[in-house]
Amino acid sequence: MKILIKNGHITDPANNIDKIADLLIENGKIAEIKENISQSYDEVIDAEGMFVAPGFIDPHVHLRDPGLTHKEDIITGTNAAAAGGFTGVACMPNTKPVIDNEETIKYILDKAKDAKAKVYPIASITKGMKGEEMNDFEALYKAGAVAFSDDGRPVENAAMQQKAMEVAESLNLPIISHCEDLKIINGGIINKGEVSQKLGVKGMDRTSEDSITAREIAIAEGTNTSIHIAHVSTWGSVGIIRDAKARGVKVTCETAPHYMIFTDNELLKENANFRMSPPLRTEKDRQAVIKGIADGTFDMIATDHAPHSPEEKADFRKAPNGIIGLETSFAAAYTALVKGKIISVNRLVELMSTNPAKMLRVKGGSLSVGENADIVIFKDEKWTFTEKEIHSKSKNSPFLGMTFDGKVKYTILNGKITYNDCEKGE
Ligand code: DOR
Repeated sequence: MKILIKNGHITDPANNIDKIADLLIENGKIAEIKENISQSYDEVIDAEGMFVAPGFIDPHVHLRDPGLTHKEDIITGTNAAAAGGFTGVACMPNTKPVIDNEETIKYILDKAKDAKAKVYPIASITKGMKGEEMNDFEALYKAGAVAFSDDGRPVENAAMQQKAMEVAESLNLPIISHCEDLKIINGGIINKGEVSQKLGVKGMDRTSEDSITAREIAIAEGTNTSIHIAHVSTWGSVGIIRDAKARGVKVTCETAPHYMIFTDNELLKENANFRMSPPLRTEKDRQAVIKGIADGTFDMIATDHAPHSPEEKADFRKAPNGIIGLETSFAAAYTALVKGKIISVNRLVELMSTNPAKMLRVKGGSLSVGENADIVIFKDEKWTFTEKEIHSKSKNSPFLGMTFDGKVKYTILNGKITYNDCEKGE
């Protein structure tokens, strides 16, 4: 099977390719990239006026499978991923049971075999995510885990977090930290500030995030280990990470499109689809996130895709935190960052493909000849996001009704088209 992608703007930061050319896929692999490929083919994609890039990789999604499949499952979650241009997603361990054992990893990998995106399990750092006993990282890695995180909460015991980072470093595996001190959060549901006061709801103090970010960096610096900071939302944490990077600390970090676009003012509508943790912050924080993307403090963009059912999200004050994001991540980031003249398309691909692959130490994130043909084709095109476009089982998106400037046209996984915008639902 040969697919020829014609006249696209090939954008591959990993190989320094940024030019109009053809790309030939043969038997699931990238066979050739050059101008005017004249070989025969079975299928042709006219990519004139479109960008052809390595498939996006999301380092942070919640697929809810096993155990919470009324919200999402591996198949619906990866369908949403394909529609968003993703060819790989790393799934967080807060499932039922928690991903802290070989059987659950095997279940996920088996179910993901024919899915529309590669699924990379992230195992928990501690048993049951209880913060009491560390997992056997080497055994879980051998079973297929690519990284470790207790996402949803930090490892509260700093000594245990230090041990986890030292063991992970010795195995060259990443630890992803959810930086929120739960004692400081103390039942808060949105950012602590004017808006929480106005609404009369308990706030989440920003020091909950900044204090754990600073702690993780102190551990990384003191022990010469690495840390990846998840979903950064505060100006304080952006600054702490920027300074640490300048000193040579081995820290990487991600933010998510909602922190680039919204502030806690949105919460005045009392719509739980704007509630997540960490929460939407203030304009000063939003600006700091944008600046951190522009100056290279941020290494990647994640969705923190966190599906919850409409019933669960119905009550603004009682709803669980989390929003879906796979179908809108590229479009929102392209609109805010590329159309907003903050970064180039090339840098966006680095943030969504190249760097997540590097951090997770997985294949992909490049268009190298001979590698799997995991590809996204996108275009500068206006469209409005409605419930119709949602492949996820849940609908808890704050982006509903928004018009974006960038559209995923095709997603290709191992040389097979997993999403075709011209034939929706493919
Ligand atoms: O908003 C969030 N939802 N943040 C998290 O860290 C966890 C996630 C979830 O699992 O729903």
